[in-house]
Amino acid sequence: MSTDILFAPLQLGALALPHRIVMPALTRMRAGPGGVPQPISAEYYGQRASAGLVITEATAISVQGHGYPQMPGIHTAEQIAGWRAVTDAVHAQGGRVVLQIVHHGRWSHSSYNPDGSLPVAPSAIAPPGNAYTPSFTQLPYEVPRALETDELPAIVASFRQAAQNAREAGFDGVEIHGANGFLLDQFLQDGSNQRTDAYGGTIENRARLLLEVVDGISSDIGADRTAVRLSPHGNLGGLSDSDTVSHFSYVIGELSKRNLAYLHLIEPRASSIGLADDASIDSANNAALFRHLFAGPVITAGGYTTQMGVDAVASGLADAVAFGRMFIANPDLPERIRTGALLNTFDRSTAYGGDAHGYTDYPILSVKAEAASA
Ligand SMILES: Cc1cc2nc3c(=O)[nH]c(=O)nc-3n(C[C@H](O)[C@H](O)[C@H](O)COP(=O)(O)O)c2cc1C
Repeated sequence: MSTDILFAPLQLGALALPHRIVMPALTRMRAGPGGVPQPISAEYYGQRASAGLVITEATAISVQGHGYPQMPGIHTAEQIAGWRAVTDAVHAQGGRVVLQIVHHGRWSHSSYNPDGSLPVAPSAIAPPGNAYTPSFTQLPYEVPRALETDELPAIVASFRQAAQNAREAGFDGVEIHGANGFLLDQFLQDGSNQRTDAYGGTIENRARLLLEVVDGISSDIGADRTAVRLSPHGNLGGLSDSDTVSHFSYVIGELSKRNLAYLHLIEPRASSIGLADDASIDSANNAALFRHLFAGPVITAGGYTTQMGVDAVASGLADAVAFGRMFIANPDLPERIRTGALLNTFDRSTAYGGDAHGYTDYPILSVKAEAASA
């Protein structure tokens, strides 16, 4: 199989990528106390700097935005300093790195809030299942508190501050997490948004919060360093929408007007991420449905093999391809794809939390070759 098409350079706004193999956001739950990235995370991301673009794990914009144990943040000076080591490590190897910024919304637990207050959401509807508390114990999700309309400017301000902090930490840009069932997605989809104010009801209203975040961050750090991730048809966090195609067509059409660095679309076959190694759940093709509505570059993600990635770029359905689990297991993934080398296998048991094992100890080709010749 020729993979040449993946090795053509690509401009994503202000970012010049030498090739089209992207590392998407991958939560690894290895931040230290206070949500501070540790030196081992600089090593982990540095190992993967040969990606066309490194996108970090989802990172909380505020105390209220946290929702997983050992999740990093970007709202304190210590966190900014921790991230600086990460961006330095990637840049030292000639790479590019953007920070994925998130507010978990209802997909959180009161134990993350120092005052024990409930998670917040568009509407007081609990997600299904159990939350992981900061100590990794599981408790049922609580019914969140619906945000008041006059609280929403502060949410937008937290996103804006997070993006500015990201630039201070040396990131080349930010990816706004509008996907996978977190706060902005909760606002977009009417299964979780039953508001009656200017942020609920019509799709124009439900898209308002996301677009205010996008416009605010674009004016602060530049649209060409601002990107958005969406997951139409995704059902993570118990989300659903009454008319996914029309509603997301509107959202993507609005984003298209804004000259963003890129739009990142997740295919619904990845709805099971974190739950199963199953690439066969394929009920809709978001790239086919929505790519033509977005004027700028599109990254596609979700269950891609190398061949599927080649086909997606060759057919014009996307400009770049993100490989998630393959990048966890293969720090030198672009080189392996280029040379057709065997791939290491992803170990789900070490994905979330833990130490260096399954984080920084996946073998790279040169180490293997040296070991073999020793
Ligand atoms: C361990 C793990 C953690 C993930 N964390 C995030 C995350 O923080 N933010 C996000 O947008 N997607 C996250 N995802 C989804 C991936 O970015 C990607 O879309 C998904 O893994 C599908 O791609 P793949 O089939 O190539 O692995 C995660 C996936 C995995 C497996």
